[in-house]
Amino acid sequence: MSVPTKRLFIKTYGCQMNVYDSERMADVLGPLGYAMTERPDDADLVVLNTCHIREKATEKVYSELGYIKAMKLARRAAGGDMVIAVAGCVAQAEGEQIMLRQPAVDLVVGPQAYHQLPELIARTHRARGERLAADFAADEKFDALPTERHPTGVTAFLTVQEGCDKFCTFCVVPYTRGGEWSRPVETILAEARSLAEQGVREVTLLGQNVNAYAGEGGLAGLARKLARIEGLDRIRYTTSHPADMDQALIDAHAELPQLMPYLHLPVQSGSDKILKAMNRAHNAESYLRLVEKIRAARPDIAMSGDFIVGFPGERDVDFEATLSLVREVGYAAAFSFKYSRRPGTPAAAMPGQVAEEVKDERLARLNALLDEQQKAFNLSQVGKVLPVLFERSGRHPGQLSGRSPYLQAVHCDGPDRLIGKIVPVRIEAAAKMSLAGALEQVPA
Ligand code: SAH
Ligand code: SF4
Ligand code: F3S
Repeated sequence: MSVPTKRLFIKTYGCQMNVYDSERMADVLGPLGYAMTERPDDADLVVLNTCHIREKATEKVYSELGYIKAMKLARRAAGGDMVIAVAGCVAQAEGEQIMLRQPAVDLVVGPQAYHQLPELIARTHRARGERLAADFAADEKFDALPTERHPTGVTAFLTVQEGCDKFCTFCVVPYTRGGEWSRPVETILAEARSLAEQGVREVTLLGQNVNAYAGEGGLAGLARKLARIEGLDRIRYTTSHPADMDQALIDAHAELPQLMPYLHLPVQSGSDKILKAMNRAHNAESYLRLVEKIRAARPDIAMSGDFIVGFPGERDVDFEATLSLVREVGYAAAFSFKYSRRPGTPAAAMPGQVAEEVKDERLARLNALLDEQQKAFNLSQVGKVLPVLFERSGRHPGQLSGRSPYLQAVHCDGPDRLIGKIVPVRIEAAAKMSLAGALEQVPA
């Protein structure tokens, strides 16, 4: 066995897929002697796994690079060195630009090129050759990554699909992650088995359009196969596009107890005019009908969504339509954003850009409504007994922290040996972000 001799620090921004990718980068670098460290200042290799989705996310990366550069200079002054790598969607979108803007950066690696990291790093050490890998071959990436995983907990992410062909007019993802591509069923099952063997009880399948999964049997078929893996008791998936929510997947929600009753199904807006300008391929009515169908199959399903306020051309009536759609659906959780103008996307050039104060005001109103709904949903669980998967010890001694089927955080007193177990918990109180409860009985 090789002894770790080098320290690796990875900072992750953006979506869950980046969290997954960061783990896989650590897997690829482990055999080269890199072990994870919690601190960037003593790291031999610093990776920033970046997000390009909104302007703020991108700007954060450059300010962080400023700090990391100072650390690198300090290391050098002390006779050491540090390699700085920028990975993720900013890497893909901006490529060499990053090294021009921040010359301390040694290499730039896009989301489909992580398997090339060992080679890129070796080249950096030899101070020559390519410092940029930003191709779009997702199949090569997954072929080169081991299916063996090293999970650190009882829940894990598993990427099954990458990329997007939808081209919503506000969004950079089709440009940073490339076209829709699905992993073959077999490699996903192998990875899931490896996770389950190491104590993972819940897996969240990831994809930019996860329900467009095009492997054999689609996402519904995949879920059915995963449900047969011993020990894998909970399956989730995110993010889904309304256009790809087919009947087979809806039926799976009715039939598979392992498929958790929580669905993140972004609508973005409740105005047909705005939805059309966004190129979303659904209107308010078709979305509402879809939610109805899903609820008919799984009446207790908790709905979640994403919203953008202040998209170009959004008038008061359009925003009111969003509020009214929200009222009609009743969300258990949601994410809302002010429209951010992204260079190169069609919406950036549209007329009718909305003033910042108007966006602020709309976001506050939307959030007030969504918060109210989330609180109401959490309160509706009080008095019920929910199966909770305990994931870790809680903040207070003797406390455990886990998740309900509806993805709510649940805090509860209990012994550490219950971590990794699914246990009935009586819910006694609810706050905006979490539930508190008590064990029905302490299992043996
Ligand atoms: N494939 C997923 C993830 C997209 S990014 C999906 O379709 O939902 C996550 C969310 O970020 C989107 O749903 C959208 O609400 C938001 N988003 C994307 N681009 C944005 C932009 N330019 N400005 C503000 N929010 C944006
Ligand atoms: Fe972006 Fe739309 Fe694709 Fe989601 S479906 S990643 S919002 S382009
Ligand atoms: Fe961000 Fe890329 Fe994910 S832009 S949201 S990290 S796909």
